[in-house]
Amino acid sequence: MSVPRVAASYPTALQAQVDAYLRELRFGDEEATEGLNEAMRYSLLAGGKRIRPVLALATAEAIGLDTAEVMPLAAALELIHTYSLIHDDLPAMDDDDLRRGQPTCHVVYGEDVAILAGDGLFAEAVKLVLERQRGEPANVLAAVHELVSAAAVAGMVGGQYVDVKASDELDESGLRRLHELKTGRLIAASVQSVLALGGAPERATIGYRRFAAELGVLFQIVDDILDVTGDEAALGKPQGSDQRHGKRTYVSVHGLDRARQLAVESHAKARTALAEAGGRTQTLEQITDYILTRQT
Ligand code: IPE
Ligand code: IPE
Ligand code: MG
Ligand code: MG
Ligand code: MG
Repeated sequence: MSVPRVAASYPTALQAQVDAYLRELRFGDEEATEGLNEAMRYSLLAGGKRIRPVLALATAEAIGLDTAEVMPLAAALELIHTYSLIHDDLPAMDDDDLRRGQPTCHVVYGEDVAILAGDGLFAEAVKLVLERQRGEPANVLAAVHELVSAAAVAGMVGGQYVDVKASDELDESGLRRLHELKTGRLIAASVQSVLALGGAPERATIGYRRFAAELGVLFQIVDDILDVTGDEAALGKPQGSDQRHGKRTYVSVHGLDRARQLAVESHAKARTALAEAGGRTQTLEQITDYILTRQT
């Protein structure tokens, strides 16, 4: 099964805007906590595709909001994502020592500081939105609700729990649910939190929300495939980590060919939902194609 040819360029101009904004962030201004600020910025600025904030900016573009205006919310998504990566790599979790092409946070700063760096990034994400995100207060609150819910028990943290506790009995629908939670919810929130900020009524955004949910699952199916087929230098993280830990993934459960086929089907569903959503969706289409065909 081969992946169909799709136009898969990545919106690097939006990525550069995100990077510039993230570089300006500092966490705390006391000398006593400077080491914590450093560890947080080390992981945050190590690189990364910035898919979640780029999706947020592309969603803003699609619904007619100014991209610069949603930057605090977009950056907050990346802070929460980076926290999840730092904790995911810890010895008690996936025990990985490479991330974004650099030694993981705990390898450089120790496990104690890495745990705190993750905790700090989560709290700073919420603080950033509450302090800097402009918009109707009710809409900003709804956006924060999306953001925090995506990281909660019915989101990333719950998914990580299912991931670490998953047994061989986890069936196909259980595996899809795991992916919806551990990765899907935060990706989906990258779209939905911006919809909330825009204040569009729920019934007007059904297409976007279906798109967002499918895109999140697609992202993790491809991540599972790349764990097997990817190149470590390009990925910037250890290849084969899932196999080493006996993880239930789309590849271990379905096999590589079927996993690829499921990724293609998921991509098609996401594209169909997006076509039904309306708006200026060209950049979202680009990102969707990139997520299917990416090698990093
Ligand atoms: C990796 O996320 C972890 C998953 C949720 C699958 P990304 O592939 O978005 O990692 P970065 O941010 O580009 O490093
Ligand atoms: C992690 O999934 C998802 C997170 C919530 C961080 P993985 O464990 O597959 O992510 P990678 O492959 O280490 O980036
Ligand atoms: Mg993991
Ligand atoms: Mg991992
Ligand atoms: Mg993975």
